[in-house]
Amino acid sequence: MADHKFDYDLLIIGAGPGGYIAAIRAAQLGLKTACVESRETLGGTCLNVGCIPSKALLHGSELFEEASGHMAKWGIKASKVELDLDVMMAEKTKAVGELTGGIEFLFKKNKVDWLKGHAKFTSANTVDVGGKAVTAKDIVIATGSSVTPLPGVEVDNDKGLIVDSTGALSLPKVPKKMVVIGGGVIGLELGSVWNRLGSDVIVVEFLDQLLPGLDGDIRKEAAKIFKKQGMELKLGAKVTGATVKGKKVTLTVEPSTGGKAETIEADCVLVSIGRRPNTEGLGLDAIGLDLNKRGQIEIEHDFRTKVDGVWAVGDVVPGPMLAHKAEDEGIAVAEFIAGLTGIVNHAVIPNVVYTMPEFAGVGLTEEEAREKGEIKVGKFPMMANSRAKTNREPDGFVKIIADAETDKVLGAWMVASVAGTMVAEVAIAMEFGATSEDIAYTCHAHPTHAEATKEAAMAVTGKPIHI
Ligand code: FAD
Ligand code: NAI
Repeated sequence: MADHKFDYDLLIIGAGPGGYIAAIRAAQLGLKTACVESRETLGGTCLNVGCIPSKALLHGSELFEEASGHMAKWGIKASKVELDLDVMMAEKTKAVGELTGGIEFLFKKNKVDWLKGHAKFTSANTVDVGGKAVTAKDIVIATGSSVTPLPGVEVDNDKGLIVDSTGALSLPKVPKKMVVIGGGVIGLELGSVWNRLGSDVIVVEFLDQLLPGLDGDIRKEAAKIFKKQGMELKLGAKVTGATVKGKKVTLTVEPSTGGKAETIEADCVLVSIGRRPNTEGLGLDAIGLDLNKRGQIEIEHDFRTKVDGVWAVGDVVPGPMLAHKAEDEGIAVAEFIAGLTGIVNHAVIPNVVYTMPEFAGVGLTEEEAREKGEIKVGKFPMMANSRAKTNREPDGFVKIIADAETDKVLGAWMVASVAGTMVAEVAIAMEFGATSEDIAYTCHAHPTHAEATKEAAMAVTGKPIHI
């Protein structure tokens, strides 16, 4: 397979979920593969400063909140629950170390060379890594994304006063008052962590609802639930500036549509207004590869860019910025490069917010589906699900959206303690072109939260049992 004109058959830039998975699959398919990564450890944003550390803190903070009172209704009394934040952070760091170390092991096992340093194109087949030219027949760009800055609100993670997600994953102490700018996924997940650990959290969101891009019912439910959990929501508001004095930050906030400004003082401010693709310093000019208006690299269906031999996957290309989307694209691009057919169904990419309860969905939102044609919708509340009721988890629902004529499932949205796990069932059903009736007539174990999905499917034709 090896083409001796080049150092490698395939070189991948970036070892996040898009890049490291592509590297492993390519090596499995017999390609001589290298992966360049400028970070000290493998795994990209996801393993180092994203999915994994955030889930560790969500888990730890949930245990703290449970122990601090929620368990009392089950007769479990803890006289004095104390938080040792250093220990919680150390456990998070340990999980990250185990997982990033695991990728290093997999690279060695599969004979993928890890080239440490920053990669910059000098030609379509050559990148410079720390002054050394490395050549490859094919090159995949998997450089991921970074935090979008907010002008006038300068992030300084070291000081811990105005932080981005990376800073908010490592605060040295629980801030008394935290303002989260942006009511999207990061704001709500990390806002939940610090809210549970004792901070007063205010979320300032530009739009009139949280979680843009998700189904309308989910967004409304999210606002109710986070308010109930003690977060203050300032919807339809934007932050226009910040001043730091001593250990306090004063933010200027005004209505999104303009109007009278107010100031809010905080001990910590989290900037979470989105992420943007990493392309700076990559030398794309040298190969004539330009970006679209959103700063992304455009690709064909097989992840090929317009430059021969250069491919791209993950957060740096259009589509949702999600680890599992990057992973699936990583496998597919390696398969295309090896001469096989890679498959990613971009219409069926689940989306999960890992708060308590979790918010999850797959496929079209109800609003998108209605725009496309006639639909039927079935909804079932978690209040009426025996397992959720028994566990005292009353919040949430499952909603199934089906085509009115064919009954084919077009989307599903759910709020439940384990919605992130439940949504996988609907994703599989959609991949197989299932109808709502197929889900309704599939036997679901009792008592499980997943029975709510079956009942929502039954509700599509007006026949749920428990409501
Ligand atoms: P990345 O993971 O960003 O990896 C790209 C890598 O390329 C980086 O390590 C970078 O150092 C390296 N790199 C960049 N340029 C160069 C260069 N020129 N030379 C060498 N190396 C370079 N998604 C989920 O699906 N579920 C979650 O629960 C979730 N939680 C998240 C929580 C947070 C706080 C954040 C910030 C993100 C979260 N995400 C989550 C999003 C997820 O992390 C990204 O979608 C995913 O990491 C994208 O993978 P990627 O491979 O495209 O890029
Ligand atoms: P986001 O796009 O999810 O949310 C950003 C929010 O900020 C939006 O609601 C937007 O309206 C708001 N906003 C923008 N400018 C503003 C301003 N000036 N003032 C107030 N609000 C403003 O982006 P976020 O939360 O930063 O996350 C980035 C990406 O990371 C997500 O889109 C997601 O793809 C990924 N991610 C995924 C997770 C998951 O799958 N569970 C968890 C965390 C991140």
